[in-house]
Amino acid sequence: VTRSPEGDRDADARRLSAASYAERDPTGWFDQLYAEAEHGTAVVPWDRGEPNPLLVEWAAGRDGSGSKAVVVGCGLGRDCEYLARLGYATTGFDLSATAIRLAAQRHPGSPVRYEVADLLEPPENYLAGFDLVVESYTVQSVPDPVRGELIAAVPRLVAPGGTLLVIAARGSEHAVAGPPFPLDEDEIGRFAASGLQTVRIEPLVDAEGTPRWRAEFVRP
Ligand SMILES: C[S@@+](CC[C@H](N)C(=O)[O-])C[C@H]1O[C@@H](n2cnc3c(N)ncnc32)[C@H](O)[C@@H]1O
Repeated sequence: VTRSPEGDRDADARRLSAASYAERDPTGWFDQLYAEAEHGTAVVPWDRGEPNPLLVEWAAGRDGSGSKAVVVGCGLGRDCEYLARLGYATTGFDLSATAIRLAAQRHPGSPVRYEVADLLEPPENYLAGFDLVVESYTVQSVPDPVRGELIAAVPRLVAPGGTLLVIAARGSEHAVAGPPFPLDEDEIGRFAASGLQTVRIEPLVDAEGTPRWRAEFVRP
């Protein structure tokens, strides 16, 4: 296995996802990617060593003390650690056991609870369990039909009075050879299901020039 050429950070994700999709397994490649990265034979494109700048811009200055936050598909924990620094009692969960092991290893002594869990079969205590739910880049990493199920599942984690923040690539799934597969306007609006209300849906362009959605919803 060769390393990605400089400049194409998504090459390993595409290589492994293509093999996974061919076996009708849209998510099996995540764990393989983390495992290869651990051995230095692949690049995890979203492993930037810093929290998502669009999350930081939104959350900076907030006091999370006394509030519970969860990061959906937390990967290596970059956003979890940031929320914990703001004072949130933070849980990060991911389908990939390797990601969760590496996230915990990377942040020794972290107060974050790193847990292996599937958004589509969440533990009972996750349901309506969090004052802040952050979904950043998970839905965009999975194609239809599973992504539709993910969109429906995320709002179920928001407690009464709680907030959901979604950060995702903006565009059309069918316009690109993903992953990532951008979300269209209909898809980003669909997070306002199961009783959530839309606060704002922002079409943005991030610092790298990528069109993004940042969308905020609340459960009254
Ligand atoms: C593109 S990565 C983004 C990781 C992280 N949010 C970040 O921005 O660094 C998507 C993550 O979602 C996880 N994932 C995919 N489907 C999932 C599911 N059904 N339940 C939990 N995690 C899932 C993958 O294992 C992967 O770590």
